[in-house]
Amino acid sequence: MSELPTVVRPDGLPTHVTIYEVGPRDGLQNEQALVPTDVKAEFVRRLLGAGLPIVEATSFVHPRWVPQLADAAELMGLLGEAGRDCPVLVPNERGLDRALELGARHIAVFGSATETFAQRNLNRSLDEQLAMFEPTVRRARDAGLDVRAYVSMCFGDPWEGGVPVDQVVEVGRRLFDLGASQLSLGDTIGVGTPGHVTALVDAFVGAGMGVDQLAMHFHDTYGQALANTYSALQAGITTYDASAGGLGGCPYAKSATGNLATEDLVWMLTGLGIEHGVDLQQVVDTSVWMAGHLGRPSPSAVVRALAQDAS
Ligand code: HMG
Ligand code: MG
Repeated sequence: MSELPTVVRPDGLPTHVTIYEVGPRDGLQNEQALVPTDVKAEFVRRLLGAGLPIVEATSFVHPRWVPQLADAAELMGLLGEAGRDCPVLVPNERGLDRALELGARHIAVFGSATETFAQRNLNRSLDEQLAMFEPTVRRARDAGLDVRAYVSMCFGDPWEGGVPVDQVVEVGRRLFDLGASQLSLGDTIGVGTPGHVTALVDAFVGAGMGVDQLAMHFHDTYGQALANTYSALQAGITTYDASAGGLGGCPYAKSATGNLATEDLVWMLTGLGIEHGVDLQQVVDTSVWMAGHLGRPSPSAVVRALAQDAS
């Protein structure tokens, strides 16, 4: 059996895509098992070694809120210089101080498009979350750091239901305008569908944002992540968040399951003739290795297919 798809390149898609790997952060934050810090460090190193250009390493959030990532400082210590180029999540100035002490160069703040999730995830209202991020982003930028902003619940919210596109664009723009270099649009609970993706990207572009300033962050709860990615490729988006093996979720959004699996994304991009720079088999091997530590198989179809191939 072939280990790579036949390349057929349709017109009108980007020639190159950046994969923003979130497995060590979004993936591991939602695992029941506490993964030892040296295993996390090896995970990050292996992902970088597989050619992933950006690997989000961990979060400097309150350790009581996300105990799985309470070892953030220790992990950054183990990663050394390589870790300083890995983005880390920071919700507030306290988190920024902790990240700055360790020499982080890239942070990400994360807001919600809905009132309920802002309360549940950040213990803040919609406006209060922006007030919390404002000095955080300003100080990070003054210190020369790159800042990414996430906006969650862009396609639906488990408590509020559908989320109007205009509301997502309004919150997303406010977040981006704090001084971010990129805005990642999160389908936190994986309910989005391809037409919705087109409508949301069009609305952001209509509000003055460039497709090069946007990234897509799909969770695969309803199996729509690849279809949604194809829709976003057609709209010209060139940065996609994904997690090795499809790990992931959000501890404060019960219905959130794994992210789009990096391997599934790489398989599709390869078949479409879109450059990504990632060694697929190395990511698969890493996910199989990590699944051994987590005690459960990867949900990724591509990992299952290629792991079987290897046996
Ligand atoms: P709070 O309880 O309101 O905090 O939580 P506070 O500001 O009132 O402070 C209370 C105490 O916590 C203080 O200590 C602070 O110093 C301390 P005290 O004075 O009482 O001794 N504290 C901290 N300690 C360590 N690190 C910090 C920190 N901040 C305050 N950073 C807070 C507010 C934002 C801290 C909390 O709600 C929190 O940590 N939330 C994080 C939740 C989280 O990480 N969720 C998962 C990530 S989001 C996600 O996965 C979605 C995404 O993938 C995109 C998508 O899928 O849509 C990004
Ligand atoms: Mg997420």
